[in-house]
Amino acid sequence: MADSLTTEIIHGDCRHVLKKIPTGSVDLIVTSPPYADQRKSTYGGIKADNYVQWFLPISKELLRVLKPTGSFVLNIKERVIKGERHTYVLELILAMRKQGWLWTEEYIWHKKNCYPGKWPNRFRDSWERCLHFTKNQKFNMHQEIVMVPMGDWKNSRLKKLSETDKKRDESKVGSGFGKKIKNWIGRDMAYPTNVLHLATECGNKRHSAAFPEALPEWFIKLFTKEGGTVLDPFMGSGTTLRAAQKLGRHSIGIEVVQEYCVQAMASLKMEKRKKFLSPKIQKPSDEEALYA
Ligand SMILES: C[S@@+](CC[C@H](N)C(=O)[O-])C[C@H]1O[C@@H](n2cnc3c(N)ncnc32)[C@H](O)[C@@H]1O
Repeated sequence: MADSLTTEIIHGDCRHVLKKIPTGSVDLIVTSPPYADQRKSTYGGIKADNYVQWFLPISKELLRVLKPTGSFVLNIKERVIKGERHTYVLELILAMRKQGWLWTEEYIWHKKNCYPGKWPNRFRDSWERCLHFTKNQKFNMHQEIVMVPMGDWKNSRLKKLSETDKKRDESKVGSGFGKKIKNWIGRDMAYPTNVLHLATECGNKRHSAAFPEALPEWFIKLFTKEGGTVLDPFMGSGTTLRAAQKLGRHSIGIEVVQEYCVQAMASLKMEKRKKFLSPKIQKPSDEEALYA
C-alpha cells in the first residue's frame, strides 16, 4: 500500500478548490475551520453572524465529495461574544441538517492540559466539539479498532452483579438503549466513550491553531480502512495528512496560506506521487467580503 499512497496538498481557497474534487471520492473529512473572528491577524476571521452563510457552500461541496458510507468530523467551538456564547455552531448544525446532512453524533475533545486562568463569569474552557455528520444512518465505523482497556470496572462493578445486571435492562426513559452488564464479565476491552481526553498540541510550532495528531488519528482509524481517502479542507500545518500518511490512508489537504502549505509539505514524507499544486490565490470576490 505504502508505494501507491498519495498525499496531496493543494494551495488555494477551499471554496474554489473543492469544486474540482470528484463526487463520492472521499471516505472521511476531518477538519478544524477558522473559528468566527479568531486569529484575524494570521489568516482572516469570519464574523460570527456571517459564519453559517460562509460555511454552507463549503459543507454543500463536502456533502458532494463524501462517499455515501463516509463521515465528516467538524472540530469547532463557539466564541464568547459580549459575555455570552454565540449560537453560530448551533445554527450551523440546523442549517446543515436542512442541507441533507445527518447530525449523527457529537464527540467531545477534552483538552487535558488547558492553561490556568480566571474569568468573572465562567471557568477555564477545556473542551471543544467534534461534530460527527454522515450522509446515511449506515456508514463505515470500525469500532473494535478504538477499544480501550476495561479498567477499574473489571475489579469493582463487575465483581458484584445485581439481579438487574444479570438480565437485559431496558432504558427507563424509553430511548431503546438497553444494557446487560453481565455480558462484559471476563472481557479485557470495552468500547470507548464519546469523550476524547487529549492534550492540546504544545509541541507544534508550525501553526497557532493546530490540533493534536491523536485527534484526526482516532477518527481516521474509526471511520476508514487502510487505503481509504481522508480530506482536510482547512489543512493548516498538515496534522490530518500526517496522521493519514502514518496510517496508510490517501489524503488531500487544502490550505489558503502558502506558508502553511510549504511547512506541511516539509513535515510529510515525500511520496513519489505526491503533488503540491500552487494555483494563484483568487482575488477576493464579493462573496469573500464575508471575511471583512
Ligand atoms: C484552525 S486552522 C487548522 C489547523 C489544523 N487543524 C492543524 O492542525 O494545523 C484553520 C486553517 O484554515 C485555513 N483557511 C482559512 N480559510 C480557508 C479557506 N477558505 N480555504 C482553505 N484554507 C483556509 C487557515 O489559513 C488555517 O490554517
